[in-house]
Amino acid sequence: MTSLTASHAADLVAALLFILSLAGLSQHRTSRAGVVYGIAGMALALVATVVVASRSISAGAVALIVLAMALGAALGLWRARRVEMTQMPELIAVLHSFVGLAAVLVGWNSYLEVESHGAAQDRIGADLLGIHHAEVFIGLFIGAVTFTGSIVALLKLSARIKSRPLMLPGKNALNVGALVAFVALTVWFTISPSLPLMIMVTVLAMALGWHLVASIGGGDMPVVVSMLNSYSGWAAAAAGFLLDNNLLIVTGALVGSSGAYLSYIMCKAMNRSFLSVIAGGFGIEAPSGGAEEQGEHREVRAAEVAEMLAQARSVIIAPGYGMAVAQAQHPVAELTRQLRGRGVEVRFGVHPVAGRLPGHMNVLLAEAKVPYDIVLEMDEINDDFGGTSVVLVIGANDTVNPAATDDPASPIAGMPVLRVWEAEQVVVFKRSMASGYAGVQNPLFFRENSGMLFGDAKQSVEEILRVLESDSRRDAAPTVRQPKVSSR
Ligand code: TAP
Repeated sequence: MTSLTASHAADLVAALLFILSLAGLSQHRTSRAGVVYGIAGMALALVATVVVASRSISAGAVALIVLAMALGAALGLWRARRVEMTQMPELIAVLHSFVGLAAVLVGWNSYLEVESHGAAQDRIGADLLGIHHAEVFIGLFIGAVTFTGSIVALLKLSARIKSRPLMLPGKNALNVGALVAFVALTVWFTISPSLPLMIMVTVLAMALGWHLVASIGGGDMPVVVSMLNSYSGWAAAAAGFLLDNNLLIVTGALVGSSGAYLSYIMCKAMNRSFLSVIAGGFGIEAPSGGAEEQGEHREVRAAEVAEMLAQARSVIIAPGYGMAVAQAQHPVAELTRQLRGRGVEVRFGVHPVAGRLPGHMNVLLAEAKVPYDIVLEMDEINDDFGGTSVVLVIGANDTVNPAATDDPASPIAGMPVLRVWEAEQVVVFKRSMASGYAGVQNPLFFRENSGMLFGDAKQSVEEILRVLESDSRRDAAPTVRQPKVSSR
């Protein structure tokens, strides 16, 4: 077997492993196998790439590639071991920015090395040279948009800049204008490639990436993260065309299309227009409504909540980002066990974008061994809040905000939310009256049937557990017998 056919076979097997990986990751039970397939596919792809490269480049260059891979692997392992679950989207945004930057570098390298040394004409042939020029430009454009877009996403997710959308005057015209300019520059570059055009498209794409993501805000950020995932896939596919690497093309297309589909599903779940979000909030007007308080709130204590729960017939727990921050899933699971042991019906209502990444709450609840069958999706449980005695909102905010349904001017208007306020009693676990991720105040906190239990969610739940346990000990304690008094 020649090295070419062997490398083609390796590409094919790696591509199949990536497809198996995606299929595995789509379900809880098969997700571990999905990760293993992905690791195996990537290991095979790396080994095959180095082996093929070693036939046409010097030993020194191969050593440099291996060194770069070892350094990258060491850095990746170090970060992956340290990253908190709540910081995963930030890590993903950083990784997307690397893919974008790599595509930009590949585009520039392809232009500088290949074009300026005339090697392109030998390798590509005069007929296909125009297509090659277009590939360089398109790859560069998608890569640069992904690069700066991912950096803005990182800054927003880590709260280093405000998550509210940037509303420049004529923002839609700016985005459309940048796209039209890109098309015109591509035609120009295809006919007559030059360095100034390369610089112009790089700057244009970086500015567009920045503006596109800066213009999307609050509740739409999860869609942005998966949209950038999709862009990074297309950037990798474009780099694959330039590097003549089939596996990179296939892998890029897999990431690009699955990211686009995930963005579409999220948009449907959040009642957002997919096209409007990917076009940088096209058509979305400046939101009104801020984080200011909207009335009087009522504070409750852990002992009162314990009493409420002891009397309840049914309880629904709506977890959110704060449960992840507090790492309260274990005491929450223990509370669930105790209440079910007392005959209370306990279920969980999980919003599709609760937390900071898809499936965030499900992973935490599974880790704490909450049975799968009592963890329900929003659509499965939303009609049941009306007949529920107590809802515990543990570190959730935007995902239980009635303004999304009641206030058309709210920045999260139209987003389906858990209708927790329909229950008899609602207890909100949080540390202050601060707003959630979208930066808007929550009228739920000021409703008559809502009580605020302030403090770290883990400590609050542990406190409730202590009260419940001491109550049951008191109930179980034998009554002290009075000594019989002799009549004699
Ligand atoms: P958020 O609206 O982010 O609210 C979380 C609440 O938890 C905050 O109001 C905070 O209030 C409270 N909290 C934080 N630490 C706490 C602690 N230690 N103990 C108790 N409470 C604590 O949460 P959500 O309802 O889960 O909504 C998710 C938001 O993130 C949505 O806007 C969504 O669009 C966005 N988002 C989601 C994703 C995905 S894919 N899930 C990705 C990016 C963004 P205090 O500070 O007062 O404690």
